[in-house]
Amino acid sequence: MQINLSEGDSIMAHTRKKIAVIGAGFVGSTTAHWAAQKELGDVVLLDINEGSAIGKSLDLAQAASIEMFDTKIKGTSNYADIKDADVVIVTAGMPRKPGMSRDELIGINAKIVKDVCAGIKANAPNSIVIVVCNPMDVMALYAKQQLGFPRERVLGMGGCLDSARFRTFIAEELNVSYKDVTGVVVGNHGDAMVPLVRTASVGSVPLIDLLPADKIAAIVQRTKSAGAEIGGHLKTGSAYYAPSRGAVEMAEAILKDQKRVLPVAVELKGEFGVNDGMMVGVMCVIGGNGLEKIIDYKFNADEKAEFEKSVNAVRALCEGLKTVQ
Ligand code: APR
Repeated sequence: MQINLSEGDSIMAHTRKKIAVIGAGFVGSTTAHWAAQKELGDVVLLDINEGSAIGKSLDLAQAASIEMFDTKIKGTSNYADIKDADVVIVTAGMPRKPGMSRDELIGINAKIVKDVCAGIKANAPNSIVIVVCNPMDVMALYAKQQLGFPRERVLGMGGCLDSARFRTFIAEELNVSYKDVTGVVVGNHGDAMVPLVRTASVGSVPLIDLLPADKIAAIVQRTKSAGAEIGGHLKTGSAYYAPSRGAVEMAEAILKDQKRVLPVAVELKGEFGVNDGMMVGVMCVIGGNGLEKIIDYKFNADEKAEFEKSVNAVRALCEGLKTVQ
C-alpha cells in the first residue's frame, strides 16, 4: 500500500498541538528547546531576525535524532506560520542590562508587544498567550488590551520562575532535594514580589519549623533579587534557563489540561480587592482553557499588606503605558 502525503500533511495532523514562541533570543530559543524536548507539540520559533529564528530551529531540530523527540520545529519571521497555534509564548523584547530595573524596559518592550499582538490576533485568535517579556505584569496587561482576549487566555509568567527560585534557595539552605520543597511567590514580578513563607514546606514540614527567621528572611531577599544577581554576573543580558522553563511549565499545564495550581499573573476582577483590571500573580488552576480558577488564598494581615504594595507597584508602572504610541 502506498501512502501519499503532501508537504505539511500528517496522518495524525489533527491531534498535534502547536506552540508558537515569539522571539528567538535567549529566552525564546530556550523555551523552544524545553518544549521540543518535552514533546509538547510542534514548535514555531518567530523573530524579526529571521536568520536567527531559522538557524536556531534547524540546530534544535538536528538534536531530535539524538535526544529522540518527535517535534517539528520551524523558524520564521512570518506570522502566517503561527496560524492556529494552541499556545503562544511571547518572549520578544529587550532584556535588562546590569543595574537596570525591569521597569525601565516599558517603552521599548510595549512597542514590540503591540506588533506581536497584532500578529497573534490575526493568525492565532483562539490561542492562549503566555507573556514573558519584562516588565512582565505590565506587558501582560498591555498584551491583554491589545489582543482583546478574555482573561482566561492571557497569562503572565513570573510566579512560576520566582517560586522556582524560592524553592531552590530553600533546598540549598537545607541541603535537601529540590523535589521535596514547596513554596509559592505571588504579586508582581519585580522587587515587590511576595514570597509566601507560610506556603513553604520541606517534605510537608512547614519551613518556619525548620529554619530560624533570619535565614528565612535571607532566602526571601535572595528570591526577590535573584534576577538581578544573575544579570550582574552575565553583564550583557538576563536570565533565561529558569524563565523559559517557567513558561513551559505553564504551556504544559495548558496543552495537557493538567489543572496545575501555579502562581500566574492574571487580570483580577475583584479578587483580593483588586477591581481596576491590574494583572498580578496569584495562585491559579491552569488547564486546557488557560485560567480555570483563581485559588482564594486567605492572606494574613502582613501578607495582605505586602500584596497590596505589590499591586500598587504594577499600578504605578502602568502609568508608563500612557505614553506608548
Ligand atoms: N518581533 C519579534 N521578535 C522581536 C521583536 C519583534 N517586534 N523585537 C525584538 N525581537 C527579538 C529580537 O530580535 C531578539 O531575538 O526578541 C529577541 C530578544 O532576545 P534577547 O535579546 O536574547 O532577550 P532575552 O534574554 O531572550 O529576553 C527577552 O524576556 O525575560 C525577558 O527581560 C527579558 O524582556 C526580555 C525578554
